[in-house]
Amino acid sequence: MTGHPMSTNNRPPGPEAPTRIGFGMSRPGHDSAGSDTPDDAEPGPQTLPPDARVDLARERAETGIDEVFTSLDADLVGLVPVKTRIREIAALLLVDRARARFGLSTSRPTLHMCFTGSPGTGKTTVAMRMANMLHRLGYLRRGHLVSVTRDDLVGQYVGHTAPKTREVLKRAMGGLLFIDEAYYLYREDNERDYGQESIEILLQVMENQREDLVVILAGYKDRMDSFFVSNPGMSSRIAHHIDFPDYTLAELEDIGKLMVAAEGYCFTPEAQKTFREYLERRKAQARFANARSVRNAIERARLRHASRLMEMDRPVSKEELTTLAPEDLRGSRVFAEGSAETPST
Ligand SMILES: Nc1ncnc2c1ncn2[C@@H]1O[C@H](COP(=O)(O)OP(=O)(O)OP(=O)(O)O)[C@@H](O)[C@H]1O
Ligand SMILES: [Mg+2]
Repeated sequence: MTGHPMSTNNRPPGPEAPTRIGFGMSRPGHDSAGSDTPDDAEPGPQTLPPDARVDLARERAETGIDEVFTSLDADLVGLVPVKTRIREIAALLLVDRARARFGLSTSRPTLHMCFTGSPGTGKTTVAMRMANMLHRLGYLRRGHLVSVTRDDLVGQYVGHTAPKTREVLKRAMGGLLFIDEAYYLYREDNERDYGQESIEILLQVMENQREDLVVILAGYKDRMDSFFVSNPGMSSRIAHHIDFPDYTLAELEDIGKLMVAAEGYCFTPEAQKTFREYLERRKAQARFANARSVRNAIERARLRHASRLMEMDRPVSKEELTTLAPEDLRGSRVFAEGSAETPST
């Protein structure tokens, strides 16, 4: 059971042990590496007798992962298949912990994942929630997220790649390493590309240190698929593939409302309509990036709103300070004729 989160607590069994169902696992704020401190009152985990019962609902409540789900639902519009997959993974890990209590699990499940989807579909945001969840479940010691791209891992010159990759891995240990556009690590046309060296190191660590690091590869689905074809070693180490669909117009609108409210603003009813029209147009244009484009649009609207208020040259009310009007959106290039080629917002 080496490396299993439950094995991090290796004190001898306490006297009342057989009736004790708690997992005695690392919890948020408690570094599992410090589990050998004798004054930490909890008894160590031991194998339960075959006729014991584990209360899964209680175990789940004790981890605090329901808070993660609640904020996922409150903060993220749509993404129903993604949220479902995260719940499934949580269930799998809770059951894995319960099985370990009966001495049934022999090794920790592989948790490396692949997040595919267009830009701005919430991959990085969900990865951060995932890190938090895995930490609460005791599968990640620190639960932080280190987000990198090829440039952070691969050097320009011979001998530079290994130290760069190892430095990133060192920073990510105990947490989640998120590799954005992971397929850029592999250059099909150049077998001597330094990216290959980085891939080799990653593969090794993904296998040998998987009890202390979870890797998420992210990017467009089609490119990721061909990356896996060329790198079967990577493919075989990924346990969960999660696809992030593009947002519908209604979802983009809801995301916008959520973001506007979170910043302490609101749309006038007319501005709400203009916003919808903006999204319709923007969605059809080049470099549309889902929720990221929505965020950018709102930031630009706030800029125009601020300039508009400054130009009024009179005292302004609280309502005026918080209300976005149609003209704050209309100023966008998205509404200009022939704007299809180079929208910026
Ligand atoms: N479903 C959603 N509900 C509300 N906000 C969202 C949602 N999805 C994404 N966002 C917001 O949109 C922005 C972009 O999201 P994020 O960075 O997670 O996307 P991404 O898929 O990682 O994009 P990229 O591929 O460009 O890195 C963030 O500010 C995030 O909070
Ligand atoms: Mg991202």
